[in-house]
Amino acid sequence: MYRSRLGKNLGKITLDYVSSLNDDIQIVMYDILGSQAHVIMLYENKIIVKKDLKKILTGLEFLKKENFRKKSSSEDIHELIESLLIKKIGIDAGGKMHTARSRNDQVALDIRMKIRDDTNIICQCLLDTIKSLVKLAKKHQETIVPLYTHLQQAQVGLFSHYLLSYADALFRDLDRFYTTYDRINENPLGAGPIGGTSIMIDRQSTGKMLGFNGIVENSIDATTTRDFAIEYIAASAILMTNLSRISKDFSIWSTSEFSFLELSDEFTSPSSVMPQKKNPDILELTRGKTSQIIGNLTSILSTIQVLPSGYSRDLQQVNPSLWDTSHTVISALLIMESMLNTIIINKKNMQKAAEDGYLIALDLAEKLVHHDISFRKSHQIIGILVKAAHKSRKSISALTKLEVKNVMKGEKVNLELLMKLIQSTTVMSSLNDRKSQGSSGISEQKRMVIHRMKKIDIYQKEVKKRSNNIQNSLDNLNKKVKTLIK
Ligand code: ARG
Repeated sequence: MYRSRLGKNLGKITLDYVSSLNDDIQIVMYDILGSQAHVIMLYENKIIVKKDLKKILTGLEFLKKENFRKKSSSEDIHELIESLLIKKIGIDAGGKMHTARSRNDQVALDIRMKIRDDTNIICQCLLDTIKSLVKLAKKHQETIVPLYTHLQQAQVGLFSHYLLSYADALFRDLDRFYTTYDRINENPLGAGPIGGTSIMIDRQSTGKMLGFNGIVENSIDATTTRDFAIEYIAASAILMTNLSRISKDFSIWSTSEFSFLELSDEFTSPSSVMPQKKNPDILELTRGKTSQIIGNLTSILSTIQVLPSGYSRDLQQVNPSLWDTSHTVISALLIMESMLNTIIINKKNMQKAAEDGYLIALDLAEKLVHHDISFRKSHQIIGILVKAAHKSRKSISALTKLEVKNVMKGEKVNLELLMKLIQSTTVMSSLNDRKSQGSSGISEQKRMVIHRMKKIDIYQKEVKKRSNNIQNSLDNLNKKVKTLIK
């Protein structure tokens, strides 16, 4: 339709190479809504007359039911919609729809409308996943678990503490999407191909009708930039790395060797030959898909960094990575949420692992510090005890007074006091004594669970408000369309 000055049509292979129609299926509805708001603005600013407006709006309403998957010689959804409209209502009215805009501002608009919706969905899914983590944490405020550094047992901890650490990471992800949203939700429409238009349009009014917070003012910037999309994929990549790390922990902890937890059957896969297998394939896929999203981030960055200012067709290649990112992130979150809601926690094995090691060593060392022994000295004393206990294959508390006396020869230490501390320090007493803010201490778990629950509620209200705002604007636009075509 646009090839006015070009003599020849695109060949079959070239058309296939150029066309974005398959990917554009994701933005059809946004494109139609954007066109409706655009022509209403043209009418309200006396650029087109009511008769033509009515025809265009009616034609667009009709196109909402069109099957756009059919074969077509159009290069993209914008060309296809305009050509179908002209076919339906004629070029005199239909040809006016594209007044004072270009596909360059049009596609930027569609992308922004699509990913602001996806951002709201992701924020909601994140809230649901965080809620599952915090709820599980509430249930496991006294479930003892070893905490690891270097994948070696480090300190005794509580399972809720571990879960809340991921809740906090996901809160940061949520906040990244939440703040990116304001930069996505600005209207680029009316920027034209790059330099604006001589026709007296009202960009603010189109923006309002479509639920935007404002406009991307500079028309060069509005048509060129995809930085908001980079931010969106970057936030997605960071979020996926967090989900991937939970997946890694859970797949290790579901091995027979650990047996800290069991995944519900619906999140595991069997083997084609080994009947006993219950593989954590779904978790592994979250890890695998994370690499794919990192690939999408690399792809968008390397596309954008070579472009001169103004629209270039390379930008079309960015769109499928965006759609793929949304689809993957939303599914990964939905799966993580249900998996958390159905996971079986094997408290006994967690506790046993925590008690079998020498995890209270640091707690013991700190007890000596309370008795005015320097931390470095007390580190040495407890180190000697761990060595002795390890040698005689017992726990520190099972060491006899004689054994302690023997290994402490040459150390200036009050034996009575040391024995009292050894015998009174247990995994549980350590967790009761741990008081520092954000620690594994029992009292800290209670406080953090309540605080995180409140935080969920605050975000929940704001996220709901945003999707309601969009919904209200689009409902109003719809009402306006219905009244105008009556
Ligand atoms: N299909 C194109 C895209 O997705 C739409 C914009 C085309 N603009 C142009 N000047 N060729 O980016």
